[in-house]
Amino acid sequence: MSRLEFQILSDRKDIDPATELILCIIFFPYFYYWEPISKVLALVGNLPRSRREKNAYLQFYLHPQTIISPVSSLTMDTSSQTYTIQTAHTNWIFSGDTGSTLLQSTFGKSVPETCTSAALAVYPVRNLSALLEPSLCIIQPDGTHNLELQLAAVSESGLDDNASSTVFHLADPAYPVDVDLIITAYFAEDVITSRIRVINKGSQEIMLLDRDSAFVRLPYHHDTRLTSFYGCWGKEMTGFHEDRLPRGITKHVNSQISRAAVPDYPGCYLSFGGPAQEDSGDVFAAAVAWTGSWEYSITNTENDEVFFSAGTLPALRKLAPGRRYESPNVVMTWSSQGKGQASRNLHDYGRNYGIYNGKTERPVVLNSWEGLYMDFNEEIVTALIHRAAEAGAEYFVLDDGWFGNGKYARNQDTCGLGDWQVNREKLPHGIEYLCDECENVGLRFGIWVEPEMICPLSELFENHPDYAMQLRFRDRVPMRNQYNLDLTNREVESFVYNTVASLLSAHPRIAYIKWDHNATANVNPGSPANPDDQGALNDRFTEAYYRIISKLRNNFPSVIFQACSSGGMRGDLGTLQFSEEFWGSDETNALDRILIQWGWSHFFPSKAIASHIGRYKEGDFKLRADVAMTARLGIELDPKILSDADFDTLKQGVAEYKKIRPLIHSADLYRGRSPHDSQVTELTFVAKDKSQAVFFGFKRHTDPHTENLLPRGIDASKIYRLTELNPDTAPRIVPGDFSGADLLANGIPVSFPSKQSSVVVRLDAI
Ligand code: DGJ
Repeated sequence: MSRLEFQILSDRKDIDPATELILCIIFFPYFYYWEPISKVLALVGNLPRSRREKNAYLQFYLHPQTIISPVSSLTMDTSSQTYTIQTAHTNWIFSGDTGSTLLQSTFGKSVPETCTSAALAVYPVRNLSALLEPSLCIIQPDGTHNLELQLAAVSESGLDDNASSTVFHLADPAYPVDVDLIITAYFAEDVITSRIRVINKGSQEIMLLDRDSAFVRLPYHHDTRLTSFYGCWGKEMTGFHEDRLPRGITKHVNSQISRAAVPDYPGCYLSFGGPAQEDSGDVFAAAVAWTGSWEYSITNTENDEVFFSAGTLPALRKLAPGRRYESPNVVMTWSSQGKGQASRNLHDYGRNYGIYNGKTERPVVLNSWEGLYMDFNEEIVTALIHRAAEAGAEYFVLDDGWFGNGKYARNQDTCGLGDWQVNREKLPHGIEYLCDECENVGLRFGIWVEPEMICPLSELFENHPDYAMQLRFRDRVPMRNQYNLDLTNREVESFVYNTVASLLSAHPRIAYIKWDHNATANVNPGSPANPDDQGALNDRFTEAYYRIISKLRNNFPSVIFQACSSGGMRGDLGTLQFSEEFWGSDETNALDRILIQWGWSHFFPSKAIASHIGRYKEGDFKLRADVAMTARLGIELDPKILSDADFDTLKQGVAEYKKIRPLIHSADLYRGRSPHDSQVTELTFVAKDKSQAVFFGFKRHTDPHTENLLPRGIDASKIYRLTELNPDTAPRIVPGDFSGADLLANGIPVSFPSKQSSVVVRLDAI
């Protein structure tokens, strides 16, 4: 709880108008000269120091019936028992007296709407209409699906100057069950998250079934469109479907236990009033921050109402007396400027809160996988380290194949997972030698692990077959010749933590971990250690994964973590709470990556999406470098296979990227034409103050082509100097000075050669 908010919330009713006027006069100079004065007052104590606190104070004194806590996004109207959760352009209004049902009004753009009687329960526990499913279904000890939630209290706490959590404490008057609905508002980002906590206060076990993290009432429009994202290995996020919302319930589900992003993606966009546009229209976007099975559903009722609910996939799980269940968060945003602004809101949220170390700059990585696979020795790796440095990489990451000995040496993917000892034949001088080699050429060293797995052909399995997941009475089914470890067993959880912690402790120069996960846990969905609570498996597995990785993050704070799961199957906001980035896809072909990264950009800023210049298929090296530049650029090939000319192109691409990296990683992304509709597409990264931008154009067909490509998001009133970056032998644009208005209206003329190609242009305001 912040310094003043409790005081204000409790005192406010007692202030009479005369006192209020006096207070207003006293504080007025302070509000207008708050910056210098606040420095002095900071020494004194409890007075507002930030711009948001100041605004809250102003509103508080100028609008008598409202109560605003100074660092919060919550406004309480005491006369109508209304709670307004607010971000810069969004509000969500709740109302209800203590002891009654809490109601919610429409989530969306900031309008002076009140919570009317038409508003619906904040979190339905019964069927409120013929269609709507309950968000929370609890089976009481007497066997009834019986729950009623009444408002017991409201509390609030500030996370920082910009974000605060409001907790609606709800209680059942008949059964000893409490439910906290925790809504966190990120003011500047226009993002609101929702989650629940269920507390069994009774003396008997209860069962949880449905337990959505969020239930949101959305505006109704007869033409509401749902954009969902779908993918598979090598094609993550390329299925991009926009459908008109039918009457009834539209549900998207992923039943994988240990990964979330494929095939269906745990996030969607909804637009109200026709197809979602990039730059205009009302859009709601949401994603479940959870690395396990999930569902979201949109209900379009018989009464023309639209509701969104989301959370983990329902499964019957036990909740013992005194225990609590904590759901994951659902992250939501609203934009009245189309999909583009909704994505930018999520990017800002990711950089500022949602992604681990979201604000730091990401290094250029050379990963050994597509260059060497498992076929290497010390000499080969050393040579690659040297070539990585020449290419301009900053980190070298040794991928799969460095561990296991004797009959279980990891020379192919059939064995060795679990035996995390360096392979003495391949790497006789161990990891320290490789760290030295990296250090000698100015690189930092990183390494691949897949610590949640066990191969049946491993020493670990010989010694601990019970560590592997297995469903009672069923034979284990391998996937990629491996099983998931039973993370829900505390002993196994410690083993997994210790595997990585010992590696990092023994080799403090390891600066990067690629954490892979190549088999879904639902092929053997059972825990030998906890077989009697099957419905908790999904929760327990993911919670253990989060505990392990967050403990590692705390104990090894300077190591960068990349999340990987057969490519991008862990590209979810749950995993990214603990990882700087994720591997976008095993598909490194530049043309496919245009579509893959387009999909990811709906949820993640470019710095979180690892994109490597690969060795395969279409696209010259300029095109491959340009595509990788729009994300976190890396290299995934052995430069030894390249011609001198291609190696020079690669080096040039890396060098150019480093110059624009700070901008690409922090700027606002404006998407142009979609690769789903057009063979020519555009991306513009614009600095927050619009003083600089970098524009990318991609052409996927092979005809020679001159076309005006449209940058977006720049300032119409500024003059920009255009310079081509990462040029090919022949220039593709004519450099010069142009007004923002002209560029926005007429575009940049680009002459593409007769091959799949790209252009990168820097725009500097002069
Ligand atoms: C799957 C990943 O997606 C690849 O990048 C690579 O690390 C392999 N696993 C290694 O087995």
